[in-house]
Amino acid sequence: MTLEKTLKNGIKGMLPSRMVNYSRDLIDLSRIYPSYIWGKGKAPFPKSVTIDITFRCTCRCVMCALYGEHRDGWSNQEKDKELSTDEWLRVIDDLHAYGLQSICFTGGEPFLRKDLLTIIEYAKRKGLSVNVLTAGALLNREICSHLVEIGLDDLSVSIDGPINIHNAIRRSKVFEAAIEGIRHIQRKKELCGSQVPNITIANTIQKMNQEHLHELVPLAHELGVYLSYSPLFFTNNCSKKREQELDNACTAAKDENQGVLDSHRCVDVNILLKELNQVKTEAEALGQPVYVPFTRKSDIYLRYYDFNHSVLKKCFLPWYASRIDPFGNVYPCSVNVKCGNVRQAPFHKIWNNAKYQKFRNSLKKIGLFPGCAKCCVLSPEHKMWDILPCIGN
Ligand SMILES: C[S@@+](CC[C@H](N)C(=O)[O-])C[C@H]1O[C@@H](n2cnc3c(N)ncnc32)[C@H](O)[C@@H]1O
Ligand code: SF4
Ligand code: SF4
Repeated sequence: MTLEKTLKNGIKGMLPSRMVNYSRDLIDLSRIYPSYIWGKGKAPFPKSVTIDITFRCTCRCVMCALYGEHRDGWSNQEKDKELSTDEWLRVIDDLHAYGLQSICFTGGEPFLRKDLLTIIEYAKRKGLSVNVLTAGALLNREICSHLVEIGLDDLSVSIDGPINIHNAIRRSKVFEAAIEGIRHIQRKKELCGSQVPNITIANTIQKMNQEHLHELVPLAHELGVYLSYSPLFFTNNCSKKREQELDNACTAAKDENQGVLDSHRCVDVNILLKELNQVKTEAEALGQPVYVPFTRKSDIYLRYYDFNHSVLKKCFLPWYASRIDPFGNVYPCSVNVKCGNVRQAPFHKIWNNAKYQKFRNSLKKIGLFPGCAKCCVLSPEHKMWDILPCIGN
């Protein structure tokens, strides 16, 4: 075990979870902060990368950047242009050789890739920690067994509410398959005496589920999984336009639209606060571990109604993480700035290329892009980001 891992585990055992998150952030920051200050846009090789392995999906969730009700057409699904199995394995070779520690597979629906298990298994054999985000519709018994056997570390299954609410948000009848999938995995883990994958039910708080959040507490408890609620990510057209103007020298290509409709965004602040309090009370009574992002009415209001308000004023993520789309394009994060393509150059050559440096420099200079305001990365857990001074060039 590396010194860093030993240190992290030691701290984890001693401190309450909020403190653990701050400490983890501090350790990560100590690695990248010198380059943030003096690196002129360069950064040490990332420890984690998110791979959108396909943009194809079985669902059409109303709030989704790819398939939401606010979109004119569906996302770019071009299956033929997706990286092949071999191409992904070479990407993993490159990432691993330069020190990557963890990969998150998301999309779209990652399990639509028939080779996902092969790719995960390959990453696991290299010692990487692997996390998958899924809607869970394709989690059949065979796939679930395999996931446990190959040692997937974390699985996040999106559940937006009880069956009717969930299926209405997802615009697809996927609730039962997702829950059954979780049950398969838990049974298989028990059979194999395995602790992993750790499973999280991930909920996105929006108007359609604002009165049903507490109904997930007994469900998560019965399934023996962690429960996490997240705020909605959205932008308005005005912030998008300003963002393009700010970084217009980079190629904008990402087929995402975060302009979630008001009818899905505009939660009732009073109802939601009451609901979240009920979640906490019920979770406490059951001993159910849960993450709830808001404790105050004013925070909910600012998050859902003030387009310019952001929890933090600056972001460090592009100094220690990156994102690759199904076609090999590399982006610093959710921002629509393409920095290269792994078909044309290996990731390690893209990570600190001129475009990436330009992106980091402009982010450092202005703190956040206008479209960043509601990014899920900006959470109170990263409040160290705001405390550290932004000096250097
Ligand atoms: C984009 S999905 C990709 C993985 C998979 N398709 C799924 O739904 O779990 C990742 C997570 O983002 C959530 N999500 C979708 N639209 C969102 C939005 N506008 N704001 C915040 N989270 C969103 C999904 O519910 C899911 O939990
Ligand atoms: S399942 Fe995920 S990717 Fe598919 S539409 Fe829903 S949120 Fe979007
Ligand atoms: S806050 Fe902005 S720069 Fe930071 S990760 Fe989110 S979208 Fe990217």
